[in-house]
Amino acid sequence: MIKDKKIVIGVTGGIAAYKAAELVRILVKGGASVRVAMTSNAVKFVAPLTFETLSGNRVVWDMFDPFTEPIGHITWGQEADLLIIAPATSNFIAKMAHGTADDFLTSMVLASTAKILVCPAMNTQMYKNAATQENIRLISGRGCFVMKPGEGELACHTEGPGRLPEPEEIAELAGNLLTEKDLDGLKVVVTAGPTQEPVDPVRYITNRSSGKMGYAIARAATARGAAVKLISGPVALKPPAGIDFHQVKTAEEMRKAALAEAGQADVIIKAAAVSDYRPGETALQKIKKDEGSFTLNMIKNPDILAELGALKKNDGFILVGFAAETESLTANAEEKLRKKNLDMIVANDVSREDSGFDAENNKVQIIYRDGKVEDLPLMPKESLADQLLDRIMVLRKK
Ligand code: C5P
Repeated sequence: MIKDKKIVIGVTGGIAAYKAAELVRILVKGGASVRVAMTSNAVKFVAPLTFETLSGNRVVWDMFDPFTEPIGHITWGQEADLLIIAPATSNFIAKMAHGTADDFLTSMVLASTAKILVCPAMNTQMYKNAATQENIRLISGRGCFVMKPGEGELACHTEGPGRLPEPEEIAELAGNLLTEKDLDGLKVVVTAGPTQEPVDPVRYITNRSSGKMGYAIARAATARGAAVKLISGPVALKPPAGIDFHQVKTAEEMRKAALAEAGQADVIIKAAAVSDYRPGETALQKIKKDEGSFTLNMIKNPDILAELGALKKNDGFILVGFAAETESLTANAEEKLRKKNLDMIVANDVSREDSGFDAENNKVQIIYRDGKVEDLPLMPKESLADQLLDRIMVLRKK
């Protein structure tokens, strides 16, 4: 979580310096307090005013400027929770490796007691050069987190590794580094998204699930140190970084993938909206239209959650289900909790416009085995993910 955290961003002199502006914006939006220090070369690429405007704080690039706080090069790095060097040039990484302190930013890094995240961005050959690789090994060995640069076309018209990772990825990793690892050592399996049940080669039956809730849970559990397996139906979201990702389409594929995990899982969270029925047969050719009406014979899909509930007795994982309802929310969810042998069920009223399917926010009720019902307020799915994990951790300790 980056909310209320103090982050210093060090911008060094590469063309990717312009992307650091977006990084500052994302971190500030996430509630972090951000200060920016630049090297004198970085100032040639992007004006400090850009970072001052986005961060709301004075930017420092000249140690001896009369406006620079007298010992800012010591205090900044000691007051911060995290330093992010983005972009980090080969020159800057070399200076870090050798403990050089010849300007504000290098001195601050040397004096810092914060975690340091280094995001290299440079020409492919500079990156691959044995000297740079050795320097990266040196700083990693001293506890810096060094991101792998992205691959693709670089500003110098070459292809290969050397691109600054996307600001969203850097921000996500920063959040992970700043989050307490209370799920360390746990294996968490999450299912997310809808399933697609094929009718013929061009048509399928699906539902409105976006996968946002399940993906938010998978991201939050990863940030908190869990080993996460995300089994996802087809959605428009990017698989989160650092997650064991398994793409499925049908309920049957999701079932196989989920059951295969049951033996190793500590927690299974079934946020997927699994289709209850599938066409009895999938036509091999596209079904042609006819004069009359068309009837599709649907057969029952396996209830994956109920199967997991039956397995739970032996394997001892915590099992969490979701219930999307349009009426009698609590009663329906409670019945599912009992029938499917769950530890906890998260019920949401999907008839609300501001919550549920495809929304950014969710308003849920949590129902436990002992009959306790907890009403949570409307909140972003990201926050709800953490709230759910907090409650799962309490259940694990019982
Ligand atoms: O009974 P209902 O489909 O409303 O229950 C919803 C919960 O059951 C969700 O957690 C969903 O992932 C799970 N489920 C399942 N397999 C199905 C249908 C639902 O695992 N075939």
